Amino acid sequence: MSVLSKILPPPTFLSMPCVGVDISDTSLKYVAFHPTRSAGVSRQLKQWGDIDIPSGIVQRGQILDISKLVAVLKEFKDKTKAEFVRVSLPEERAYLFETTVKQGTPIKEIRGLLEFRLEENVPIPSQDVFFDYLLIDSEENRNVQVSVAAYAKETIQQYYDACKEAGLHPVSFEVEAQAVARAVVPKNVSGATMLVDFGKTRTGIGIVHQDTLLYTSTIDIGGDALSQALRKVLGADVAEAELTNLKNTQGLIRGIDTTEVHDTLISTVSVIKDEIATRMQYWHVRNGNSEERRITSVLLSGGSANLKGLPAYLSESLGVPCLLANVWENSFPLDSIVPPINSRKSFGYATAIGLALKSDT
Ligand SMILES: Nc1ncnc2c1ncn2[C@@H]1O[C@H](COP(=O)(O)OP(=O)(O)OP(=O)(O)O)[C@@H](O)[C@H]1O
Ligand SMILES: [Mg+2]
Repeated sequence: MSVLSKILPPPTFLSMPCVGVDISDTSLKYVAFHPTRSAGVSRQLKQWGDIDIPSGIVQRGQILDISKLVAVLKEFKDKTKAEFVRVSLPEERAYLFETTVKQGTPIKEIRGLLEFRLEENVPIPSQDVFFDYLLIDSEENRNVQVSVAAYAKETIQQYYDACKEAGLHPVSFEVEAQAVARAVVPKNVSGATMLVDFGKTRTGIGIVHQDTLLYTSTIDIGGDALSQALRKVLGADVAEAELTNLKNTQGLIRGIDTTEVHDTLISTVSVIKDEIATRMQYWHVRNGNSEERRITSVLLSGGSANLKGLPAYLSESLGVPCLLANVWENSFPLDSIVPPINSRKSFGYATAIGLALKSDT
């Protein structure tokens, strides 16, 4: 169900191909699949790409200059000929909470009940909120657990208007970490999975249990902060490509001659690690240290997940296995298909892939 399901007309076009569109502060990334029946594979990549978003247009998920964003979306439309899109919403702007309703509550009454719960869980007046909910399976419980995702109407309306003005029809909107989860979390994992999307300007955190996003949070540090730190010690004029190369080939591995790069990167990455640890602890306490909801693994996505040595560093300091996500996990088996996006680049596509995988059935 989409956050916008309340204001969109009944979708008669859902069988149309949909492009997943991930709008971040600095880039728009898109992915579309088309169905295929060859060799046990059910889909193939049809379109993908990214378009830079100049700074100052979207900031921490808030659209500051709608007409410039429309221009980017038009460029996307010209390139892809897309009509129907599924768009991610910034987790910075999302309000997630869990609540319960009595077992046996008629479906048509649930939304009304939840409206009354918004006030105590979302710091904006409930009439200014759009929300969506998912019922979480709860066996033999008297109460049914419900997870709610809410956004200020204004936030969604801005993204909606920008799409419409660019001639695109948004079919659904969802929190980006929920899309990442659809792409990367393997089926039948036990416990909860923490998603860490280490991008350019920020690191998005999500916690998913049984395919449902239950917690999200943002750390305002991304790959750019690593580049800035490196420039302070290596010189202000070192090219970004060279820094990317240093991050990805040397990274957190201690050098033999000098540990300068390692030390510089560690001082920034350790801040992210501490922030992750705090959120992990919060999650476990909030859930009464339930075994069922214990975080059993951390999956890393986002372009900055390419940082050499990151999975080992995080695994060791957090005490939980931290692995690079397979962004194609739920798209197709990698032994049958070699995706055209190279492995390093693909980490940044997790959100767009998850959006493109969404279906309404
Ligand atoms: N091979 C690579 N290809 C692309 N990006 C890379 C690569 N290696 C490292 N990176 C870094 O990844 C970052 C981009 O990551 P990503 O594409 O996930 O960010 P974004 O989605 O545009 O931004 P954000 O999510 O922070 O708003 C940059 O800092 C870039 O330097
Ligand atoms: Mg991103």
